[in-house]
Amino acid sequence: MASYPYQIKNFEEYQQAYNQSVVDPEGFWGNVAEHFLWRKKWDKVLEWNFKDPDIKWFQGGKMNITENCLDRHLATLGNTPAIIWEPNDPEERHRILTYRELYNKVCQFANVLKNNGVKKGDRICIYMGMIPELAIAVLACARIGAIHSVVFGGFSAQSIADRIQDAQCNLVITCDGAFRGNKDIPLKSVIDDALMACPSVKKVIVCTRTRTPISMLKGRDVWWEDEIKQVETMGNPPCSAEEMDAEDMLFILYTSGSTGKPKGVVHTCGGFMVYTNYTFVNTFQYKPGEVFFCTADIGWITGHSYILYGPLSAGATTLLFEGVPTWPDAGRLWDITDKFRVTTLYTAPTAIRSLMGFGLGPVNHKDLSSLKKLGSVGEPINEEAWHWFKDHIGKGKCPIADTWWQTETGGHMITPIAGITPEKPGYATLPLPGVQPILVDENGKEIQGNGVNGNLCIKFPWPGMLRTTYGDHERCRKTYFATYENLYFTGDGCMRDEDGYYRITGRVDDVLNVSGHRIGTAEVENAINMHAGVVESAVVGYPHDIKGQGIYAYVICDTNPSKDAELTKKDIIQTVSRIIGPIAKPDKIQFVSGLPKTRSGKIMRRILRKIAENELDNLGDTSTLLDPAVVDEIKRGRL
Ligand code: WTA
Repeated sequence: MASYPYQIKNFEEYQQAYNQSVVDPEGFWGNVAEHFLWRKKWDKVLEWNFKDPDIKWFQGGKMNITENCLDRHLATLGNTPAIIWEPNDPEERHRILTYRELYNKVCQFANVLKNNGVKKGDRICIYMGMIPELAIAVLACARIGAIHSVVFGGFSAQSIADRIQDAQCNLVITCDGAFRGNKDIPLKSVIDDALMACPSVKKVIVCTRTRTPISMLKGRDVWWEDEIKQVETMGNPPCSAEEMDAEDMLFILYTSGSTGKPKGVVHTCGGFMVYTNYTFVNTFQYKPGEVFFCTADIGWITGHSYILYGPLSAGATTLLFEGVPTWPDAGRLWDITDKFRVTTLYTAPTAIRSLMGFGLGPVNHKDLSSLKKLGSVGEPINEEAWHWFKDHIGKGKCPIADTWWQTETGGHMITPIAGITPEKPGYATLPLPGVQPILVDENGKEIQGNGVNGNLCIKFPWPGMLRTTYGDHERCRKTYFATYENLYFTGDGCMRDEDGYYRITGRVDDVLNVSGHRIGTAEVENAINMHAGVVESAVVGYPHDIKGQGIYAYVICDTNPSKDAELTKKDIIQTVSRIIGPIAKPDKIQFVSGLPKTRSGKIMRRILRKIAENELDNLGDTSTLLDPAVVDEIKRGRL
């Protein structure tokens, strides 16, 4: 049975651990790291500066994360479910992969990758639906030291191409299609479109899922199943894990920022392993035998850290769900909870709010008695949704971990430890051990004391933090480490209340959070501007009942679109969907004749934001605008 000597058991232990992590971070993390499988121990726990930035954890340590997720569990957990897979269609049979079965399949597919020429350090793009083969593909890459770059199934061909080119991937793993609710997403055909612009890709491995007819390009495309057969013919040779340096890259995951194209956040092997495991085991107070259900997609960081690496490195049972919470009806998550006796449910506020909208009908009469702990992630959770989750899903007896963290942080940063540290609706509460948050004003001056607001920064490294942005270290430095000297800047605004609890108030940069998905306003504007009739556009967020934030676009067209306004809007939405993907579709499009600009030509987003938020009386000083009259026009036309 797995045991976790570093699992915090009460509030006093939390305080002790926290204090030690600040006074002696190297001692603290060194002790945690002792409980993993290293081929060679590290020479030094930490070396760092935030100036370059240059961050090294467990330097000199040799290991492979899959030996920690698989091999080391075989003796004791070989027959324990590692992955429970629930398909999109409740009529289809679920699958369970024990640790031994998962291990065998990962080794098998790792050999497939090798047979297809993949070597340590190669970048592999993975574009698949939520099926066990996705987990197998990810782990197989890690096994042989190839760097995975998983792209969410909702991104368009153009977005995939951008990501493949940026990382110079040489192989793609995909499926014929993916089932999501009543939709059937043609993954392979999207990949075919993307690859027209990606000469670096020499091979595509296609896994069968939907049996959608697809075209296979000779010499480039091969079937997953055929490749597996070949390995079987070879007698299923074992696949020993590649020895990785703790600081070797484990994966790249693209995420949106306030400027330009998405950047490839880089995580490395040792630190990411220790940090996702530590936070998983602590935040959710995982106990052997429990069933952990994270509803995120593996295409996002939450899936990387808390469907795969965190739970599996802890020998936990992790549930992988292919579908969506509202199909075939809004009781699906509760049915799954009952079917597999789920103990921990980790989901997003947007899902909770959308399910709230269906009332209690789909919840009543469902057996949720197995639930012990709940979690929330991705965006601020409003108090109403928090209480609904607590009362109707947790039946008042389950603690809620409102976990604040980011793609860049690799794992939880500020969160209640379920049942151990206090919780407060809408608050991420207290930092985990090892996390040193600080609030600063615009000038970077620390804001001390309680009952204050500021920009959230972190002043000391933690093992799960990003190391660079792929191929562009300067961008990493500028984005995260240059705003305030010697601090990692999160991009979030934050309040620390009278009791010292943290509450995230949302992004302070031009990044939107739509249904828990990060989208840069600049990205959406660029996509809108690709439409032939569009001259210029400005995108802001506005409060949306279910999505948290909606996308509001102000668009200038070259001819007055009043006659075909609806048609033009549809075309624009279509364009955004094609350029980025359906997740970035604007909710509202307002045609305008001009945008509020300063004399130097800068768009005054503050004003546009206020109008989108319907705070029309509170626009502030508009006298410095090039053309103040345009504001009145925009106000009148507000949607
Ligand atoms: C927001 C998701 C409030 C925040 C793990 C952050 C949250 C961004 C919370 C990162 C939370 C995430 N409360 N806001 N519990 N969790 N956020 O990279 O603005 O997709 O900066 O990582 O989501 O989004 P990302």
